Amino acid sequence: MVEATLWHPVADSSALTDGPLAARLLAHDLVLWRDDTGCARTFTDRCPHRGTRLSLGRVVQHEGRASLECPYHGWRFADDGACVLIASQPSFTPPASHAACAHEVQEAHGLVWVRLQPGDTPLPAFEAETDPQLRKLLCGPYDVATSAGRIVENFLDLSHFGFVHDGWLGERAQPQTPAYTVQPTPTGFVATGCRAWQPQSNRLSTEGSWVDYRYELTAAFSAVLTKLPQAQDGYRDVIGLFVCPLDEERSRVWFRLAVTDHDSSDDALRAFQHTIFTQDQPVLESQQPRRLPLAGGEVHCAADRSSAAYRRFLIERGIRFGAIA
Ligand code: FES
Ligand SMILES: [Fe+2]
Repeated sequence: MVEATLWHPVADSSALTDGPLAARLLAHDLVLWRDDTGCARTFTDRCPHRGTRLSLGRVVQHEGRASLECPYHGWRFADDGACVLIASQPSFTPPASHAACAHEVQEAHGLVWVRLQPGDTPLPAFEAETDPQLRKLLCGPYDVATSAGRIVENFLDLSHFGFVHDGWLGERAQPQTPAYTVQPTPTGFVATGCRAWQPQSNRLSTEGSWVDYRYELTAAFSAVLTKLPQAQDGYRDVIGLFVCPLDEERSRVWFRLAVTDHDSSDDALRAFQHTIFTQDQPVLESQQPRRLPLAGGEVHCAADRSSAAYRRFLIERGIRFGAIA
C-alpha cells in the first residue's frame, strides 16, 4: 500500500507527554510514547505476547532506560521495540521474535508524524514554519466522519464560500469563482490566481475585501493555503491542512496557522478557525459516498479545476485509501 510508505500526522506533539498515548493511522492502532531523551517512539498497539493494547500500559525505567511495559503480564519493550524483560521469567533473555512492532516517527509543524513502512517521500513541507515574521499555532484536532480525500478536496474548493461561509469567507450574492491556474509540482500541484470576495477574511478584517489565494498540494493528505487580503496591507495568512486518515471513512484534521496577526489571543485565533471549520464539517459529513469517487460518478465544472487535479494526482500516485477507484 503506497499510503503506508508516506508520512502522516497522528497526534499533537504537546499531547504526547511521557505517554503512552493511543493513536490510529490507516486502520492501524498505534501506541506513542517518549524515551529518556524526549524522542517520540511508536509501536503497533498490540503486545506480541497475547495481543493486549500496549497503550494501556505504562512507561517505566528498565536498567537505566525508559521502556514500555505491557499492562497484562508486564513484559517490557525498549525504544526500538526489543523485548527486554519477561517479568515472570526474569533470567530469560527474550529473542528478537518477542519484539513489539516499531515504526518510524518524527515531529514537525507541532505534530507527531509516523510512517508505517519505509519509503523515500519526505515529510510534507510547510515553509511558513520557519518564517520568523509569522506566528504559529495549531488548531484541532477535529474528528470528521469522512475520508481524508473529501477533506483535502473541500480545503482546495473555492466555490462553496458564498454558501457554506456566507458572511465570512463569501457572500451568497457573489458566488462567481474567477478562473485560476493549476500547475503540477513534484509533490502535487499549485493553484494560483485564485481570488475570492470575503466579508470577513480573518479575525482582524474590518471590511469586505478581495482576497488573493494560493493553494499548494504538498502531499496526498496535506495542503497549504496562502491568503493575501487586498484591504489589509502586509497581512498574510498561511494555513497548513494536515489530515490523518484514521480509517477509510474517518479522519483527524489539524490546521497549522502561520499568520501576521501577533495581536489576537491564541483562543481568538482558534475560535475563528473553529467557526469556519464547523461550517464545513456538516457538509463534509453529508457527502455520499464518503470515499472520494476517483472512477467517476460525480460531475465537474470549471471552478473545480483543483479538485480535478487532486483526483488525477491520487490516481497517478496509486493512492486508494479512502477512495473508490
Ligand atoms: S499480553 Fe503483553 S505481556 Fe502478556
Ligand atoms: Fe470551507
